Amino acid sequence: MAILDKHKIIETNATLLLIFSFLVVTVGGLVQIVPLFYLENTIEEVEGMRPYSPLELTGRDIYVREGCYVCHSQMIRPMRDEVERYGHYSLAAESMYDHPFQWGSKRTGPDLARVGGRYSDAWHVDHFRDPQSVVPESVMPKYDYLERTMITPEHIEDLLRTHRTVGVPYTDEMIENAAADFRAQTDPNADHEGLLARYPKAQARNFDGQPGISEADALIAYMQMLGTLVDFSTFEPVDSR
Ligand code: HEC
Repeated sequence: MAILDKHKIIETNATLLLIFSFLVVTVGGLVQIVPLFYLENTIEEVEGMRPYSPLELTGRDIYVREGCYVCHSQMIRPMRDEVERYGHYSLAAESMYDHPFQWGSKRTGPDLARVGGRYSDAWHVDHFRDPQSVVPESVMPKYDYLERTMITPEHIEDLLRTHRTVGVPYTDEMIENAAADFRAQTDPNADHEGLLARYPKAQARNFDGQPGISEADALIAYMQMLGTLVDFSTFEPVDSR
């Protein structure tokens, strides 16, 4: 009896087909799942990832509140067209401090995982105020109220603590200095030594170009940080080692 004829027996017998399908799925599932229990870490280690600074974290909260993820993803897939357009594909480590993650699957607008440094702060201010003024065909809504909404670091320590509860390694020192770091990052004349020691590569300046600390300051600080932390000159993918 040829092998195909044997297969016909299974195909014409619902019970047998179910039993064999179940076996195949079980074996396939085990092969995929069991190794994960023996790996200490499923996230590749990379140089440069650090918890978000208090101001960046505040900006990230505004990003989530405004539902920017409805139109923007933050995950560059390892496909050629994506990598050529957005840069190095996203690594798991790059979102390890994201609670909740912002990968997304909807792209009405471009992926933002590496938008940091692509535009000037002034561009972002204009773009949030009136997207069509810089990109006439844009369907992005206006967020002109962000620059008018002033914020204080009143609850910043609680925010950091909350993130620590879910596993972000904020230290006591980071929490103690959260309010000061929040202010220092928007003040070009402040002493940034402590901020930079706690959050290497943190960019400190008056992001929205206006007096006072606004939601636009926090959101732009977050935008300008995205994708800038990992040092890709020292990164080697696991399978090329
Ligand atoms: C209705 C969908 C929509 C929403 C909601 C939205 N955007 Fe956009 N966004 C777009 C589109 C479309 C573009 C491309 C045209 C443009 O630059 O305006 C864009 C472009 C951008 C860019 C420039 C990206 C690049 O690489 O050129 C940034 C930055 C950005 N959006 C940030 C945000 C932020 C932050 C929010 C939330 C406060 C947000 N967007 C909400 C649709 C949206």
